[in-house]
Amino acid sequence: MRKIGILTSGGDAPGMNACIRAVVRAGVEEGLEVIGIRRGYAGILPREFIRLQPRTVANIIQRGGTFIGTSRYPDMLKASVRKRIISVLHEEKIDALVTLGGDGTFRGATVLAKEGGIKVVGIPTTIDNDVYGTDYTIGFDTAVNTALDAIDRIRDTATSLERLYFIEVMGRTRGFIALHVGLAGGADAICIPETETDVDELCRTLRDRFARGKKSGLVVVAEGDMPGGAMELAKRVSSCLNEEYRVCVLGHVQRGGAPTARDRVLAGRLGAAAVEALLHGHSGHMVGERGGNVVLTPLEATWKNTKELDPSLLKLIDVLSR
Ligand code: F6P
Repeated sequence: MRKIGILTSGGDAPGMNACIRAVVRAGVEEGLEVIGIRRGYAGILPREFIRLQPRTVANIIQRGGTFIGTSRYPDMLKASVRKRIISVLHEEKIDALVTLGGDGTFRGATVLAKEGGIKVVGIPTTIDNDVYGTDYTIGFDTAVNTALDAIDRIRDTATSLERLYFIEVMGRTRGFIALHVGLAGGADAICIPETETDVDELCRTLRDRFARGKKSGLVVVAEGDMPGGAMELAKRVSSCLNEEYRVCVLGHVQRGGAPTARDRVLAGRLGAAAVEALLHGHSGHMVGERGGNVVLTPLEATWKNTKELDPSLLKLIDVLSR
């Protein structure tokens, strides 16, 4: 193996740049040529390639987003498109790909690796933390801290004016951000996509918290919560609870900004591990971190299995908000 390509795909996540830097520097140190592919899989057919050298990736460790760009590219699931992609990679003498992304990225990577001819190793990068095979994805810690900073500020005004706040965080299908932000931010309740929210039950919980002497409240709602995000939930709760409320949707602000130290360390570790995995002949795997150790998981398993939320943390939010 002489030449590897690296791409970032799907939603950007803080720490992607730090991870590209790690792959480039670890790869060059091992004698590899590293090619950056712009705009994810979408950049392969138009050959949007750029040679990455150790100095090309200087001063990006602290930058959010991804300097080579990203995209969602559903065409990757078409066999005819993959065939053309593989022949472009062969023509360019790219022997292996390192793909940074989440479950959507790894679906494409799985078939690419299976069809052969090109080695593929994935690195989990998504603020949602919804990838099986790793305790944490790169970007999650930063997103949680960004949302937490906002929640702490909202708490100041909520306490001053004695109001109930519904704060919507990202997570269309999974509630990892809501769970961690809810626990760290001292929320009274969290509402997540994994379970349909029982509005009457939520009203009972909030009534109980006010009865215990609380004058303000915080409910953290994942964007994918049913029956329909923070706005809809607040309306429904207000029909059974006579409290003044406000809604705050944090949105894409959670996806930007400088990565935390924790995300940078994970990015460095997994970037170097991906290069090592390729050099040891691995393909069709994701590198992740479990229990503090770097582990390899078959790409297929990363999106076929569901990573579960820790039920003890859910319980803890309920107990600690009393
Ligand atoms: O990258 C993950 C994520 O931020 C989800 O939390 C969110 O639901 C989705 O992407 C938003 O996607 P888009 O940027 O296309 O609006």
